[in-house]
Amino acid sequence: MTVASLEFIARLPKAELHLHIEGSLEPDLLLELAEKHKIDLLYKTIEEVEAAYQFDSLQSFLDLYYMGAGVLIDEQDFYDLMWRYLCRCREENIVHTEIMFDPQTHTGRGILFDVVINGFTRALEDARQQWGQSSSLIMCFLRHLPESEALLTLAQGLAHKDKILSVGLDSSEVGHPPEKFQKVFSLAKEAGFSRVAHAGEEGPVQYIHSAISLLDVQRIDHGVRCVDDPALVENLKKNRMPLTMCPLSNVRLCVFDQMREHPILKLLDEGLCVTVNSDDPSYFGGYLNENYLALAKALSMTESQAVQLARNSFEASFLDDTRKQLFLSKIDASALFV
Ligand code: HPA
Ligand code: ZN
Repeated sequence: MTVASLEFIARLPKAELHLHIEGSLEPDLLLELAEKHKIDLLYKTIEEVEAAYQFDSLQSFLDLYYMGAGVLIDEQDFYDLMWRYLCRCREENIVHTEIMFDPQTHTGRGILFDVVINGFTRALEDARQQWGQSSSLIMCFLRHLPESEALLTLAQGLAHKDKILSVGLDSSEVGHPPEKFQKVFSLAKEAGFSRVAHAGEEGPVQYIHSAISLLDVQRIDHGVRCVDDPALVENLKKNRMPLTMCPLSNVRLCVFDQMREHPILKLLDEGLCVTVNSDDPSYFGGYLNENYLALAKALSMTESQAVQLARNSFEASFLDDTRKQLFLSKIDASALFV
């Protein structure tokens, strides 16, 4: 029962399924783009930016996250943001990634949907050509805004259906239950999008139930509050309903006081399809491997638990079965030589 080392984690082929691309905006790129577009930020140095990243709730983070996204203006900015994350995928052996983006964060500031999507997809295509990076996009609706605006966003996304695989639901959870977005999710399903939603991060366990029953989601993002309902845990296990968990995020946003309180490994050992993800790595202190490593340090995650988490990440992905099997066989090969 060896505790997984960083070397072991780094060698494992992994999928990342819960990553907000706007949350990968590093302080240096933030400052560079602010200067490029003559935007006056509250901070002038990387140290000042990092010092500001202290959060006591989801909302305290979201306020900075939306402010940071304000420096993304032209297509090249969106390209550069995506390109940096994809380079990180190559470094960390993230062989497949399903990336969330928030169109309304940009269209609400007068940036065209096409500018956003064209910058992102050009970077995705370059990474695919240069090192075979596997990826897809999840278009998220901002739940603090009315459903009517999500419907407009869906219409814009439909014009780029070939570039977007899935829809999601993020932003301020409490007070904005899944049922508020039933219509847009139903239309998205009809149009052929797969579906995910944040639920049970800060909000109650009931939001996990309603995301599954009313939005017909195929994965739950976070879902840590499932522990409040043993019958739900049993159902999630039986149905292998994936939960894309984000350990560093949960501690930084005070969902748990300490990493050793995180239920992910307990749920894993009970047989749930939990996965590890970085959420907003630039704000929460680490990319994917750092999230795995935090579990090794605080919860003594073993090599075999790390392998199971990586296997779950492919099982939970929207890849077809053939490609899932291909990646799973790469895990077997990588774990053989420990
Ligand atoms: N929760 C909800 N909305 C978000 C998050 C999150 O962790 N990150 C970016 N948008
Ligand atoms: Zn998230």
